[in-house]
Amino acid sequence: MPDNAAPMNPKLSLLQPYPFERLRQLFAGVTPNPAFSPISLGIGEPRHAAPAFLKAALAGALDSGLSNYPATAGEPALRQACADWLQRRYRVLLDPNRQLLPVNGTREALFAVAQTVIDSARPGATVVFPNPFYQIYEGAALLAGAQPFYVASDPARRFATAWERVPAAVWARTQLLYACSPGNPTGAVMPLSEWADLFDLSDQHGFVIASDECYSEIYFGTDDAGAAPLGALQAAQQLGRSDFKNLLTFSSLSKRSNVPGLRSGFVAGDAALIQAFLLYRTYHGSAMSPVVQAASRAAWGDEAHVQDNRRLYREKFSQVTPLLAQVLDVALPDASFYLWAGVPALFAARWPGLSADEAFARDLLAQYNVTVLPGSYLAREVDGHNPGRGRVRMALVAHPAECLQAAGRIVRFCESAAPLN
Ligand SMILES: Cc1ncc(COP(=O)(O)O)c(C=O)c1O
Repeated sequence: MPDNAAPMNPKLSLLQPYPFERLRQLFAGVTPNPAFSPISLGIGEPRHAAPAFLKAALAGALDSGLSNYPATAGEPALRQACADWLQRRYRVLLDPNRQLLPVNGTREALFAVAQTVIDSARPGATVVFPNPFYQIYEGAALLAGAQPFYVASDPARRFATAWERVPAAVWARTQLLYACSPGNPTGAVMPLSEWADLFDLSDQHGFVIASDECYSEIYFGTDDAGAAPLGALQAAQQLGRSDFKNLLTFSSLSKRSNVPGLRSGFVAGDAALIQAFLLYRTYHGSAMSPVVQAASRAAWGDEAHVQDNRRLYREKFSQVTPLLAQVLDVALPDASFYLWAGVPALFAARWPGLSADEAFARDLLAQYNVTVLPGSYLAREVDGHNPGRGRVRMALVAHPAECLQAAGRIVRFCESAAPLN
């Protein structure tokens, strides 16, 4: 390194390319068939319309909302709206002044919580999370000076995370665990028994659980309380842990209300952790704009638009899943807006150097102009096994007609695919 080179955080070099960067490289040199219009099932970005009342709330706050620095803790009325939502949705009671904080989307908060929790001076600091996973967990662990420990999801159990395979020695040095329920990309929802096991482990080893619940409102049963995915706070309360010790949950408006550009969510749970997180966030400078706070308050207070949104996803999944199940190893997930599909085995030997999921994604783009994300990009190889290999993630975020069209093309693609030799 030349003497005058700028100093650089060496941990930055540990970060892996984001899945979409890898997809760009995979698709380099591929010319999509021009006979078909492009359809992307690749990016998990909601595309249903944002509700009009939310836009009006945003516009209505412009006059008053730009003239002051906001408090990091947010306005009491927003915290109250979030606590009221938690009470309606999960029947849990939290103190909005001690147990809840607004965040600028859960992505930044999932990252920042590792900065708040991890003590990298303790030997072997470890962060445990599912594999496949949302890539922020890994970057958060690495930049906080901890080692990630990847826990494979089990296809034989509807993609439940195989926490029981984590060695006792790893639990002993674990400081933080990310759970994701409903899961991205698997859609798996964690039942009460799984939460009970994790809470026991957290009690034994003293680690913090960060529960990422950003897909909690997208599920396929009818709109009664029984169909809605169990939340971690709800599980804790049902297990008699109403202080939510060592637990934080992360809830987002991005998917619930179709506003990924608003950057709004909240974190709730253990009061001592919330206090430490507030201190960290004050220095990090992550207060939410009052304009966004006003819109968020309105959004958390309304369920009608969430029900409409869910109806649209339900319709798409009920039409698309049976079609794709004719040619792929796929079933309706517990929740979320993803299908996590196994591709036909013949793709494994299709292109030298490409895994089956990569070959499938590449050929599908070339022949039918449909983009899907190779599952191996969402997971890491551990002991020679990448639990995403051979699967692709399809986000059913486009309008129903487009999703159906994509499914029809995938069926034709698979039916016409033959071993190359
Ligand atoms: C599993 C998971 N968690 C968190 C996020 C972040 O959501 P947001 O920052 O929009 O709240 C995403 C976004 O795609 C996600 O897939």
